[in-house]
Amino acid sequence: MEKLALLGGQPVITEKCPEDLFKWPIYTKEEDDAVLDVVHNNKFSGTDITIKFQDEFAKWQGRKYALAFTNGTMSLAAAMFSLGLGAGDEMICTAKTYWATAAPAQWLGISLVFCNINGMMSMDPNDLERCITPRTRAIMVVHYFGYPCDMDAIMAIAKKHNLYVIEDVSHAQGGLYHGRKLGTFGDVSAMSLMSYKSFACGEMGILVTDERRFYERAIAYGHYERNNENNIIESEDLKPYYHIALGGVKGRVNQVCSAIGLIQLKYYDERTAEIRKAMNYFWDKLEGVPGIVPLRVDESTGSNMAGFYAAHGVYRSEELEGLSVKRFVEAVNAEMNGQFVSYEGGNYCLNTHPYFQTFDALHLGKPSRIAFSDRDVRQDDKALARSEDIDCYMVPWFKKFRPEWIDLFAQAYRKVALNYKQLLPGDTHRKAGGRWYGNENEAIQEKKD
Ligand SMILES: Cc1ncc(COP(=O)(O)O)c(C=O)c1O
Repeated sequence: MEKLALLGGQPVITEKCPEDLFKWPIYTKEEDDAVLDVVHNNKFSGTDITIKFQDEFAKWQGRKYALAFTNGTMSLAAAMFSLGLGAGDEMICTAKTYWATAAPAQWLGISLVFCNINGMMSMDPNDLERCITPRTRAIMVVHYFGYPCDMDAIMAIAKKHNLYVIEDVSHAQGGLYHGRKLGTFGDVSAMSLMSYKSFACGEMGILVTDERRFYERAIAYGHYERNNENNIIESEDLKPYYHIALGGVKGRVNQVCSAIGLIQLKYYDERTAEIRKAMNYFWDKLEGVPGIVPLRVDESTGSNMAGFYAAHGVYRSEELEGLSVKRFVEAVNAEMNGQFVSYEGGNYCLNTHPYFQTFDALHLGKPSRIAFSDRDVRQDDKALARSEDIDCYMVPWFKKFRPEWIDLFAQAYRKVALNYKQLLPGDTHRKAGGRWYGNENEAIQEKKD
């Protein structure tokens, strides 16, 4: 039995790993020059570079229109508005995701109904019909940690019930589902391109759609004025509102970020292909190891994990006699010896946060989530215990294919999983699961966006 490093044994990793193994995003002199051009020529608030980026992004994404926002949250709010969702409508959203996927809904009066995730942490289509009522108008899917949702099943249910689909592609830009690009399934799709994402442009979000009407409503929501210089808005019902953003907020991206985006786009597919090669090599080494479920797809189906955003594994404590994920991660971190630091958990389930339980945004004397609903949708949250129970943990997110190093990191996980019994006596942690525990977990959660 090998003594674990957490208990005084020799760590698996003893040397400093190459800097480029994890470095992301990759910015070079090309970005420097493009950014300085914006800065020195005071092009921050113009639209020429942004329009060029939008056009190129739309082509790459395979959709007619793209509209760049200040951040992903704004692009998701605009997506909800673009479809005309509002007070009294219900929208189904996956329970475990970053808050921005769902939070803007409360300011539009939309009631959120949360759907369970499956064993791979994405929307469980088998739980969808439970969530549908005559008030349901849209399904919000998230390709969580890059894992493509089961779009065949989800689209079939949406079609059957005549529902809109919005895709939040923040974790999966450029990913494929059965050969088709993620972001092309939704009536409207939106995503973050902020600096920690696979597609990283500083601070930006982008909305894509094929529908002129949705595109115009998204412009009206937060782009206003300058984007209508060329009379882009043709809809008669939107024209009277020209010059003031209908969302009451300015949401157009600044051009430093668009300039970065244009360059990132050129290299994105090539760079993420290397990430996939590295991550699949890592997971190949850990297939079948107890407690560990690789969060990845079988690429022979034509699907892929895009840039493996915030690579995670699913944790099966039952295969390790109930060892807590927290203790497991502590032990792996000791083996990795500071060369990569992992965290357990992922995002908490949104239904467990007071924002979705009690917050009264509009002072209506009722929680916003149910303010315009004829039923208390919060009652449905009882069905989410399964989502709240799933544990996961971050794994090294390799950006370069360096097998000799990847082998060592995989060995750190394997060593802990195969020697887990040593950790049972000192395991004082409760099960982590996916609930919001307040400030105690805040530090951890913040690292997870
Ligand atoms: C799934 C998901 N949706 C939306 C967002 C929000 O994007 P932004 O931070 O760019 O507003 C994030 C994270 O940043 C995210 O992870």
